[in-house]
Amino acid sequence: MVKNVCCIGAGYVGGPSCAVIAYMCHDIKVTIVDLNQARIDAWNSDKLPIYEPGLDEIVFARRGKNLFFSTNVDQAIIDADLIFVSVNTPTKKTGMGAGMAADLAYIETATRRIAQVATTSKVVIEKSTVPCRTAQSMRTILEANSNKDIRFDILSNPEFLAEGTAVTDLMKPDRVLIGCLQTPDGFAAQQKLIDVYSNWIPRERIITMNLWSSELSKLAANALLAQRISSINALSAICEATGADVDEVAYACGTDSRIGPKFLKASVGFGGSCFQKDILNLVYLSEQLHLPEVAAYWKMVVTMNEYQKMRFTHRIVRTLFNTVTHKRIALLGFAFKKDTGDTRESAAITLCSYLIQEHARVAIYDPKVDAKQIRMDLTEPGVGTNEAEVDKHITICKSAYEACAGADALVICTEWDEFKMDQLDYQKIFASMQKPAFIFDGRLILDAPKLRDIGFRVETIGKSV
Ligand code: UDX
Ligand code: UDX
Ligand code: ADP
Repeated sequence: MVKNVCCIGAGYVGGPSCAVIAYMCHDIKVTIVDLNQARIDAWNSDKLPIYEPGLDEIVFARRGKNLFFSTNVDQAIIDADLIFVSVNTPTKKTGMGAGMAADLAYIETATRRIAQVATTSKVVIEKSTVPCRTAQSMRTILEANSNKDIRFDILSNPEFLAEGTAVTDLMKPDRVLIGCLQTPDGFAAQQKLIDVYSNWIPRERIITMNLWSSELSKLAANALLAQRISSINALSAICEATGADVDEVAYACGTDSRIGPKFLKASVGFGGSCFQKDILNLVYLSEQLHLPEVAAYWKMVVTMNEYQKMRFTHRIVRTLFNTVTHKRIALLGFAFKKDTGDTRESAAITLCSYLIQEHARVAIYDPKVDAKQIRMDLTEPGVGTNEAEVDKHITICKSAYEACAGADALVICTEWDEFKMDQLDYQKIFASMQKPAFIFDGRLILDAPKLRDIGFRVETIGKSV
């Protein structure tokens, strides 16, 4: 019986997923560790380091009882029966596979640490999304350090939670996937993890397969989801050019049970830490396997996403009489989707950088992203804007009204509920803006005819005026 679980990496994946294990299994002691002291301090404070609806309740209910956050990585490893590895796997910035391959340095460091300090046998679970066959590398490191008294078994248990809905996704997942080596020891290790999840997940939703299939399934699921968005976004360009309405097209297609209605919302482009990274992993893998056609096929999903962001910015500039120089543009939403404070790969970053290059003044408001984060994102290497430009062109506002006051245009970048028609007073916003007052709805959350009645000029993704 599993009594003690450790999670290495207290981030967006490790934090919520292991907090839910503690919440659902009171007999299991869960320790989430991280090298980052500030992050652990935040997990131990009243203000958790990540915003997720429902997460506070879960953490506050079990913290100090069977849920602990610590920087003492070694002790947690020593005490654990099961160890989740949930460290970051960013895209490599330099060297072999730069811009595409995942940087596995954090995974390797964590794995080596386990091998070094463990004094009893462990089941090590690969939780971070990683390229296929990472488990093999982890296994090689662990096995080289095994002896007759200690053995390490490796499992792949990719996480499918989406940010903003992490807690519900974890409580009621569509499925839990566990990959193992197809050996008696592999199956025994797998059974231990099945026993943990069976505390709250129906057995038929726990899917088992071999390690490689499990690793590839995670990349494939994200690639297929991102591909749907790029597909509907490609159609949104046709809609704008022809007068078809992308919401109507998505509805008509989605009612076909073979296609299904979800994930067909046209947008300014997908963001988040996973989609682009995982597709680029798949592209790199395909290239390594000498499958250039396959690589090109998946690469196109990312290319289309970049095109969508650029196309939307061009539409803004074109509509504002071909120049946004010195114009104030209110950007509502900076997170990559609603209900999260996460900005990784957010379309808003690209949009802002384009608008700065066009010399616009951008007034940004997001309910969950703070000014420091926005400044950091816009001055990251590769974004194309420096600190001086950000200082000159960006204002960060405390409300949507403040951002819109005196603006020539309002751009919806994130679909936060508080930007919807029944939440914001668009009459008041209209009165405070320059005229003509433009709205660009990058998330299809507004009622264009009603806004036109107020006096706005409205441009919506996937719809022509
Ligand atoms: C298709 C559409 O399904 C239908 O809605 C439309 O009206 C006409 O085009 P059809 O071409 O008759 O219908 O057959 P369909 O079942 O869609 O299969 C098309 C091809 O895809 C077949 O060669 C089929 O073998 C192949 N296919 C289908 C796969 O290779 N894999 C699948 O999972 C499904
Ligand atoms: C995704 C996967 O959904 C999840 O299963 C995996 O574990 C991690 O990656 P996440 O990135 O958190 O989750 O959010 P998701 O809801 O998938 O949204 C990703 C991006 O796509 C967001 O920018 C979102 O706004 C965009 N999106 C989503 C659309 O533009 N249209 C849609 O229809 C759906
Ligand atoms: P994800 O979105 O995949 O959860 P994050 O970047 O949010 O990624 O979290 C990963 C966490 O893993 C970071 O907080 C980082 O400090 C931590 N981490 C990375 N390497 C190690 C390590 N060797 N030991 C402990 N924690 C680590």
